[in-house]
Amino acid sequence: MSSNNSKSTTLLDRILSIEIVRVAERAAVAAAMQRGRGNEMEADKAAVDAMRRELSKLPIDGTVVIGEGERDEAPMLFIGEKVGNKKGPKIDIAVDPLEGTTLCAKNMPGAIATLAMAEGGTLLNAPDVYMEKIAIGPGYPKGVVELDRPAGENIVRLAKAKGVKPSDITALILDRPRHADLIAAVRKTGAAVSLITDGDVAGVIHTAQPDTTGIDIYLGIGGAPEGVLAAAALRCIGGQMQCRLVLDTEEKRARARKMGIKDPRKIYGMEEMVRGDCVFAATGVTEGNMLKGVRFKEGYIETETVVMRSATGTVRWVRAEHRQLEKFGLD
Ligand code: FBP
Repeated sequence: MSSNNSKSTTLLDRILSIEIVRVAERAAVAAAMQRGRGNEMEADKAAVDAMRRELSKLPIDGTVVIGEGERDEAPMLFIGEKVGNKKGPKIDIAVDPLEGTTLCAKNMPGAIATLAMAEGGTLLNAPDVYMEKIAIGPGYPKGVVELDRPAGENIVRLAKAKGVKPSDITALILDRPRHADLIAAVRKTGAAVSLITDGDVAGVIHTAQPDTTGIDIYLGIGGAPEGVLAAAALRCIGGQMQCRLVLDTEEKRARARKMGIKDPRKIYGMEEMVRGDCVFAATGVTEGNMLKGVRFKEGYIETETVVMRSATGTVRWVRAEHRQLEKFGLD
């Protein structure tokens, strides 16, 4: 958000990188109260309500550009919804109040509450459809992997750029029948495939630190909202990402056109999905590789959040103890 070099935006972006933590924490705690109850909708609703309440307090003229769906289908945090007290600057907001609704409902690892903010007009406005994605971490020459290249070729090129054998590469892919051919093509090169049941925002983030996560590349089709959020995170920590919306029906193409998308087959680079500086935050809901889940302790609640700022590349890990339990609807 400091791309225009204005002091006030830099200040706002710095303040927002604290405020955004609070928003993610509240959504995560609300969702965590629904962990393991088998009810995806209730868990999601709790996170949405809490995130919306916190967003309404921010000193911004915010617009949700990536949200819970379009106006007709989502009662809250729908695409186009205005948030904030409207007194501050124009800010685009991408939200996924509960990323991994099933993980939360089943109390499985990896559910997070996540959002990103950027200067108004700089985040891709995309309908809630599927998106083809490919992502790698920092340190590689531009274009080493490309969305439209065969997966096997991408693995071989990535291995060469890393100076290792294809069998030393690990790809992360959502475990879905639609990915059967993709998984086979990756394995054919000798590379390993790590499968996840849900949660590809964290999946993409994993590629940024292959030494820690063991993941070199993310491949496959997931949600478009998750794609834009992951692009925001990768813009902060470095890496490459290419995506294309899956607009396979006239109805989806019409929805996309309404959002200003003229070419339904366009491949978006990370910088086209997030066209300026941004802040990104995610709080763990259930335990995960990336973040600890919410812990309800005697007299306080503990949360862990990662917050990133693209202007500086700073990544902060915020472990918080919340003692005003009434703020979370508990006493
Ligand atoms: P939800 O929290 O909306 O359930 O999304 C979880 C998720 O796994 C995303 O991370 C991913 O992008 C998407 O679902 C994949 O969609 P699908 O489950 O339809 O394959």
